Amino acid sequence: MSETKKKLTTSWGAPVGDNQNSMTAGVSGPTLIQDVALLDKLAHFDRERVPERVVHAKGAGAHGYFEVTNDLSQYTKADFLSKVGKRTPVFVRFSTVAGELGSADTVRDPRGFAVKFYTNEGNYDLVGNNTPVFFIRDAIKFPDFIHTQKRDPRTHLKNPTAVWDFWSLSPESLHQVTILASDRGIPATFRHMHGYGSHTFRWTNTDGKSVWVKYHWKTDQGIKNLDVALAEKLAGENPDYHTEDLFNAIEKGDYPSWTLYVQIMPLEDAKTYHFNPFDVTKVISQKDYPLIEVGRMVLNKNPENYFAEVEQAAFSPATLVPGIGVSPDKMLQGRLFSYADTQRHRIGPNYQTLPINRPLSGTNNYYRDGNMRFDGNGGRSVYYEPNSFGGPAESPEDKQDAFEVSGMAANTPYPDNDFYTQPGDLYRLMSEEERTRLVQNIVNWMKPVEKEEIKERQIRHFYRADPEYGRRVAEGLGLPVPENV
Ligand code: HEM
Repeated sequence: MSETKKKLTTSWGAPVGDNQNSMTAGVSGPTLIQDVALLDKLAHFDRERVPERVVHAKGAGAHGYFEVTNDLSQYTKADFLSKVGKRTPVFVRFSTVAGELGSADTVRDPRGFAVKFYTNEGNYDLVGNNTPVFFIRDAIKFPDFIHTQKRDPRTHLKNPTAVWDFWSLSPESLHQVTILASDRGIPATFRHMHGYGSHTFRWTNTDGKSVWVKYHWKTDQGIKNLDVALAEKLAGENPDYHTEDLFNAIEKGDYPSWTLYVQIMPLEDAKTYHFNPFDVTKVISQKDYPLIEVGRMVLNKNPENYFAEVEQAAFSPATLVPGIGVSPDKMLQGRLFSYADTQRHRIGPNYQTLPINRPLSGTNNYYRDGNMRFDGNGGRSVYYEPNSFGGPAESPEDKQDAFEVSGMAANTPYPDNDFYTQPGDLYRLMSEEERTRLVQNIVNWMKPVEKEEIKERQIRHFYRADPEYGRRVAEGLGLPVPENV
């Protein structure tokens, strides 16, 4: 029996008789505007692109699940963490930060590590990176920072002068800069890197008791990084190297996995800890707060359609579920606004109704209308609240967790300016070979910087972290070793 193909149709479902030849006036005459199938096809094509993400534009995604291996319900009432063995579907997107959608994967850049948990109480997004810290610690600096990472407005080229000017004038970046310039700055694949929530978050249990939490995803594949020369070669030969690696591994059944750990800090410790635990440029010592296992995530299914699932995926640190909240980290606070704001612009105001973003547990609310509302728009159901028609009602037991605030409202800086202890400790932890590669990477990166004053200012920061670190960078750049810093 021969298989009957479905008829090709226009966007309004009418059959298309000829998809190879447009309708012309005579054999060699101009094309007729009344060829409505042609107009339809071209008009749709003209709108195929949505704006790429303003950061983290290039990425790859996969589906999988998260399974709880340790009962931490004493700390959080989050339903998906409620008992050992509980499985929750996830969608994960890995990315580079600064490059455009078509840029090379094997560049020196942090990697995004965004996880969407489709829990029974709505979606929970853990939108982190492969580094535990960040370059800055106040959201108000983020647009300026990203400008230096993107292209120069005149030359449309990457501009190392802007990069190092900003970093040297924002010394809180030193910790992340040291990580980025180290071997970990270019992971071998997305599968061979850890992930971090980076910020401090808040967990609250059923008794209303809260703790501060840091998340760590440890790769079960082990850490592997790329040698610089190989990374550069791959960037030319196969700019999609990491995307391809993830896809192929999953396709052949070699499913990557990560174990999730948390550090738990009692709420009151934050007041007396030796630095502000909401400062995302610092790590909280695992000696003080050891890692506790939570569960394991396995990625076992590739997307069926890249645009629908990866490009339209919308992660946000504001996508929270009961039992998980935020801290006063000023970066995190800014992020609570930025993600959904850009997503409303990037993919439209109803982006949460797209299949990849829609909670599996459903939504019941009174949001109506807006561009591209294609899910029935609540039908004839009651469209306001309070109402006398049995519409969805608030649940007082799910009120946001209360917390205490005090003090003056002001543009207050972070209280401490110790930008040097942790990067110095990291430098001192490295082997001689790792230090040599770190310094070489920095020297190569800083060489093209146009102003000596920028280089000298940055060298002073390295020197303050560790005199040897500063001296070796200075020598590599042929500049004087700082004194009296
Ligand atoms: C105030 C600081 C920050 C702001 C304003 C900000 C803003 C943004 C924006 C607007 C996007 C694009 C989202 C989209 O189009 O869907 C994005 C993506 C992303 N950001 Fe941030 N970001 C900040 C800091 C951070 C930090 C500290 C991390 C990690 C700890 C991070 C991780 C990510 C990741 C992983 C993505 C990509 C998500 C995906 O795969 O779709 N960002 N960020």
